This record gives sequence, structure tokens and C-alpha cells, in this order.
Amino acid sequence: MNKFYITTPIYYLNDKPHIGHAYTTIAADILARYHRLIGDETWYLTGTDEHGTKIAQAAEAQKMEPQKYADKISAEYQKLWDQLNISHDDFIRTTEKRHELSVHKFFKILKDKGALYKDKYVGLYCSGCEKFLTETELVDGKCSDHNKEPEKIEEENYFFKLKDYVQKVKEMIEKDEIKVLPAKAKQEVLGLFKQGLEDFSVTREHVKWGIPFPGDEKQIIYVWVEALHNYISAIGYETGEHTKWWPAEVQLMAKDIIKFHAIFWPAILLAMGEKPPKTIFAHGFFTVNGQKMSKSLGNVIDPAIMATQYGTDATRYLLVSQFPFGEDGDIKEKLFVEQYNSHLANNLGNLLSRVTNIVAKNFQGNLGTIDIKKTGQQKIKESIEQGNKLFKQYLDNYQIDKFLGFVFGLGGETKQQSVLDLLNNYIEQTKLWELVKSDKDAATIVCYDVLESLRIVATWLWPVMPTTTDKIMTQLGLPTLEVQLGKAKSFDSLVAWGSKATGQKVTKGEGLFQRL
Ligand code: MSP
Repeated sequence: MNKFYITTPIYYLNDKPHIGHAYTTIAADILARYHRLIGDETWYLTGTDEHGTKIAQAAEAQKMEPQKYADKISAEYQKLWDQLNISHDDFIRTTEKRHELSVHKFFKILKDKGALYKDKYVGLYCSGCEKFLTETELVDGKCSDHNKEPEKIEEENYFFKLKDYVQKVKEMIEKDEIKVLPAKAKQEVLGLFKQGLEDFSVTREHVKWGIPFPGDEKQIIYVWVEALHNYISAIGYETGEHTKWWPAEVQLMAKDIIKFHAIFWPAILLAMGEKPPKTIFAHGFFTVNGQKMSKSLGNVIDPAIMATQYGTDATRYLLVSQFPFGEDGDIKEKLFVEQYNSHLANNLGNLLSRVTNIVAKNFQGNLGTIDIKKTGQQKIKESIEQGNKLFKQYLDNYQIDKFLGFVFGLGGETKQQSVLDLLNNYIEQTKLWELVKSDKDAATIVCYDVLESLRIVATWLWPVMPTTTDKIMTQLGLPTLEVQLGKAKSFDSLVAWGSKATGQKVTKGEGLFQRL
């Protein structure tokens, strides 16, 4: 059995979650569910990044203690993940004791291995922003937000000897020993090495809200370094149990934080004597209705509201189907209703209700025993069998949109007919509603073909729309997919043509997606 450990970034708590956070978390959920489906032992970690100035400021603005504030926003994240049916195995909060203890061990190891040294940190500090600014961020020598000259601050900090490890990290990325995906992201990261990389400070004196450096309590551990550590603190680094899951199979994020993940993080791991992650996947960054998402523009989409409007499964579908996974894109809110109606309510929902209706009315829900050799007509079986291959091929390669494309026919990339179009056309061309009156035997085969195809399509759709899968299974008279999986010899046997759909009672249930 293969192991599959997948992580998302841990999100900042300076504000409540938006669809950017939901996008990554849903994508990771799809990959985690896919790997569970094909039988891999899977662990999915997400969580919240709770220390640092940003959070302390946000808490202050709300006149709350940082910890109380963190508790509140972190709970909103957890509530949202429940609402979106995220199947994470663990949720790490960096203010948890288990994380703090693990960070202590981690820093002790870095110190013992000689990867840290003390030096002066000199930077331009803007008290308005409560952060260091670079020369390039200044306008006429002033902070543009506060129209104030920053203060030159000198403090003694611990530095990490990044330079000792960059060459090794670079080589590992070049040789794909650390896969940085997609190819564009790898190029971007390799470009960063050319610019030169300096040792960086891993503690701060002026920051108050964080984990103190053990043995030098005036120093607070830099929030990014401590946050990256979550990926192993959560799986038991402190007790040594992390080796069950580490190294992660894939660490997912958007490209905004790739430098931290593809360079600093592997370097730190090498310094600790740990393996770097196997894959860093940076998906694209999206705008909303053509503009960067921002509160002032009022275009921030709240995923919780979206889920109330469209339902959980449709929200998951709509978010990941908008643009190719791994590329930048734009989320056009006005397309949601149209896509919901055409892809989900019509293409999938109507197909199921048409065929279950016919079978319920004309066969009392039961097609009886069928000679499998006669089934799979008009390229139906061929298309489903090809789909079984494509399903794995696409999801093994993080091509979530391509997978949805061959089922629903998104985008214009493949002109090939989508599986659902093929099935809908099959009903049209055979005029099933008339055929069932004129030639019941022929109609039995058509009904079987569509039901069996829907069973397999529903299995593929489980990672994206788990509740919809089970609604389909119920109408087909089958147990939930999880129950089926428990009994099946393998995933392949589960999606083999002809393995299920005879004998059980088909019922016409409620429509899968009510038209909007
Ligand atoms: N706390 C750090 C991560 C530490 S990980 C050790 C952080 N948090 S964040 O809340 O800002 O989350 C950034 C991540 O949110 C992105 O990498 C991406 O996964 C997701 N996204 C936020 N906005 C997004 C878009 N507009 N588009 C795509 N992904 C988005 O950085």
C-alpha cells in the first residue's frame, strides 16, 4: 500500500477565510480523497498560522487577547472546512502545546548542529506597519502607507546558515529529487538561486506574540520558520513518530509562498537531518471578476455564503473547475449560476433523473438479470474504460480541471465529447422513452448502459462531490461508496464495467441539483 501525505499551507488568522483559502483546501481534499479511493494510506493535514505581528495587530484592532482572537478565527476555519466537507485527518494550530514542544526540539537540534549563529540584524522598521520594509518598498525614503520615514533598527538575532545548504537544495530541485511543480514553478525557483540567497534571521527581539527561543527567551522565533515546522510537528516530530508520514508526498500552496516552501523549508530540513518533501506543487493565483481580491474593492467571496447558495458539492465543483489547475486564473462570479445549471443540474442531474424515472416506471425499478456481453453499446463501454485510465492519469498528475473536463466537457481544450454528453446523446439517439414502449429488450440494454456508466462516473466524482456520489449510489440502489470500497478487492474492480448494476432496485429520488 502506498503512503500519501498531503498538506495545505496553514492560513493566517488576520481575517476570516475567503475563497482563496477554500480553493487550496478543496484541491488538497480532492487529491486526498482520490488517493484514499485508489487504496493509498492517506494523511491530510491543514491548519492555522497563529503567531506574529499580523495576528497580534488584528487582535488588538478587535480589542482581544491574541489567543482569544486566534481561537475565534481558527474556529471559523474549522467550521468552514466542515461545511465544505473537507476530510482532513488533522488540523494543526501553531499555538498548540504539541507544536511549541516540537519547535523547541527543532531549535535545539538546529543549534546543536551548528546551523545557527548570532548576529546583528539591521533593518528599516515602520512602526505603523509593524514590519521591516525593504529599500524598494519606500517612496522618497518613506513608507507609502504611513508617509513616515522608517526607523533604522538594529537588534541581535539568530541567523540560519542558509548558504551552507542552498547548493544541495538547488541540485535536488534540478534533479527532481524535490519535484517543484508545475514546470513553470520549478523555473521560477531555480531563477531565485541565481539572484543569490543570504542567510536569514530566524528570531526577532521586537516581536512579542510568538514562541520564545528556549534558553534565550528575549528572542521570539520568526513566525515563518515556526509555521513551516507545522508540517512535521503535527505528525509527531517531537516523539519521533513523524517518520511514519514524512517526507510528504505533496505540499500544496499557491505560488505566492513558493520561495519559503521550495528553498527555505528544504534547507532547514537538511540542516535538521530530515528529508525534504517529495513534491512542492504551486497552483496559480486567481483574481475575482478580473481584479485582485480585496476588501476595499468589495469582491471578496465568502465560501460559507457560497456554500449556502449553491450547496457544498457545487461550491467545490465551481471553485476548482474555473481555470486550469497550476495556472493563474480569474473567477467570474456571474458564471456560477450558468455553470451550475448547465453542468450540474442539466448534464448530470437530468441524466440521472431521466433514466431512473424510466426504469422506475417501466421496470418497477429492476432491470432483472442481463447478459453483460450485450451491454456497452455505441462506444459507451469503450468511453468509460478509457475514462477509467484518464481519471487516474489526470489525478496522478494534479490535473483536476482536465479530469472534470472529460466528465463535464469544460473549456474548449479537448474537442472530444465529454462522458456526460455521450450518455445524454445516447438517450436522445435511441429515443429511450419511445424505445421502452416499442422494444423493451433493446431499452433494457440502453438503461443498463446508462446506469452502469453513471455508477462508474459517480465513483470518479467522489473526490470532488462526495455527497452527490452517494445520492447517485442510493438512487441506483447501491450502498455508499465508502461501504463499497470496504468490500471491494481493489479500486479497479470497483470501476470495472459490468461489476455492479444488475439486480438492484433503482429509485427515482429527488433531483441532484435544483435548478437556480
Ligand atoms: N501563513 C502563511 C502560510 C504558512 S505555511 C507554513 C500564509 N497564509 S495565507 O493565509 O496568506 O495563505 C496563503 C495561501 O492561501 C496561498 O498560498 C494559497 O494557498 C491560498 N490563497 C490565498 N489567496 C489566493 C488566491 N487569490 N488564489 C489562489 N490561492 C489563494 O501565507
